[in-house]
Amino acid sequence: MTIIELTDVHKTYHLGETLVKALRGVSLGIDEGDLAAVWGASGSGKSTLLNIIGLVDEPSSGTLTLNGSEVGDMSDNAKTDLRSRYMGFIFQNFNLMPILTALENVMLPLQVQGISALEAQDKALNSLKSVGMEKFSQHRPDKLSGGQRQRVAIARGLVTEPKLLICDEPTANLDFENAERVMDLMCELNEKRGITFLFSTHDTRLIDRVKRIIYIEDGTIVKDERK
Ligand SMILES: Nc1ncnc2c1ncn2[C@@H]1O[C@H](COP(=O)(O)OP(=O)(O)OP(=O)(O)O)[C@@H](O)[C@H]1O
Ligand SMILES: [Mg+2]
Repeated sequence: MTIIELTDVHKTYHLGETLVKALRGVSLGIDEGDLAAVWGASGSGKSTLLNIIGLVDEPSSGTLTLNGSEVGDMSDNAKTDLRSRYMGFIFQNFNLMPILTALENVMLPLQVQGISALEAQDKALNSLKSVGMEKFSQHRPDKLSGGQRQRVAIARGLVTEPKLLICDEPTANLDFENAERVMDLMCELNEKRGITFLFSTHDTRLIDRVKRIIYIEDGTIVKDERK
């Protein structure tokens, strides 16, 4: 089943007088259960594409359908609801709140949904456990390594039990061992829990392990390879 469908999506940024065409007519379908990497050089449009799919940004033209509903027709409330219940988003720079502990960071998306603190804490601890970070629940981000921070960000993305997890460069800045662990985790969650993964990367270490590679160059998909 196709859960994400983009049709002729363009994104143009206005930088003063200059127009930057970050996406130029992207059409793409992502199926339930995919473990797909968006592969491309720096500046090719990977983050732009993921931000549009993750409802962080809007296309300049073209349509996006998520889980059967066309996003352009949705109210802001409906979009917020879809984002909060259906998908997790892990940003390129993790976006953890520095003054909160790992546990509190993972609790946040549940509290946004109005779940009680007690239940949120329980679920957040479980989510930290699933990424092997339960021992670090009381640590603030600056007391964690890059790989540990990345795993807390994944735990936060997972805590709402999303069907879809979007990750922007999940292993950027990680050493080999930590990159492997994050990749192991994504493969396991994809296989055992059926979570669909869409992530961007230019990390050659990951590319053998994914089911699908979507190559992007200069805002255009140039190749889409399923293994
Ligand atoms: N907010 C913005 N305003 C203006 N231009 C932007 C903005 N965001 C991105 N761009 C431009 O759009 C193009 C695509 O950027 P994008 O961030 O999607 O690339 P990327 O493939 O994610 O790169 P990287 O691998 O470095 O993260 C680049 O030319 C970039 O400069
Ligand atoms: Mg990027």
